[in-house]
Amino acid sequence: MDNHRTIARQLAQTSIAAGNPLDWFEQLYAKARLDGVSIPWADHTPNPNMIELFQQVDGQISFGRRALKVGCGLGDDAEWLSDLGFEVTAFDISPTAISECGNRFPNSKVTYVICDLFQSPENWLGAFDLVLESYTLQVLPPELRAKALKQISGFVSFGGYLMLIARLREELESTGLMPWPLVRREIEILTSQGFVERYAEDYFDGEQPPVRRFRGCYQRKA
Ligand SMILES: C[S@@+](CC[C@H](N)C(=O)[O-])C[C@H]1O[C@@H](n2cnc3c(N)ncnc32)[C@H](O)[C@@H]1O
Repeated sequence: MDNHRTIARQLAQTSIAAGNPLDWFEQLYAKARLDGVSIPWADHTPNPNMIELFQQVDGQISFGRRALKVGCGLGDDAEWLSDLGFEVTAFDISPTAISECGNRFPNSKVTYVICDLFQSPENWLGAFDLVLESYTLQVLPPELRAKALKQISGFVSFGGYLMLIARLREELESTGLMPWPLVRREIEILTSQGFVERYAEDYFDGEQPPVRRFRGCYQRKA
């Protein structure tokens, strides 16, 4: 087991076994603050897979101004979107993560919010021209994902876009350990829920060893 994921995996396992699959995120961020344990996804830099996705769709898509970052963690991707000119709201279930965003970016224009995806404000529904989801679905147990994706896609305005980045596997491949890769079927359900696929890529990233991922851009029908 790769060491930097050991504690996160243990916390996830305990939390899921106790029937509280969302509890471990705050536990991990709090432990990172107190004991300096590693947060496996926190690179303290904008996600290169996201930056490349924007490059791939550049010129083909014209986004509106209001953006929502789902599961923003320590805020690097939200800040990058803000620097691009978006008016960004970014949320995370972990109060410690949101407090760290404030510490790291004291002059930020981003609106950071402590919020559970499954209990989000009604006025976020259909309110964002761009919704960016990267790596949250893959840390949710498979049985929560369809509900999570439905919730996430509901934030997109009519005519707006959902950008999505996740680990990918084949249907018959084992899910392995957290982070649990998605299958294409889980993502493509969007096309039967009022979205049109504008960009989709199944690729291996530049990590060592390379990780198979999916990234895509879906437009909500107007
Ligand atoms: C794998 S991390 C990715 C963080 C960030 N997107 C990144 O790439 O660094 C997933 C994030 O989603 C947050 N999260 C998990 N479940 C959530 C929920 N139900 N509502 C809001 N945030 C959630 C976690 O706290 C965590 O910060």
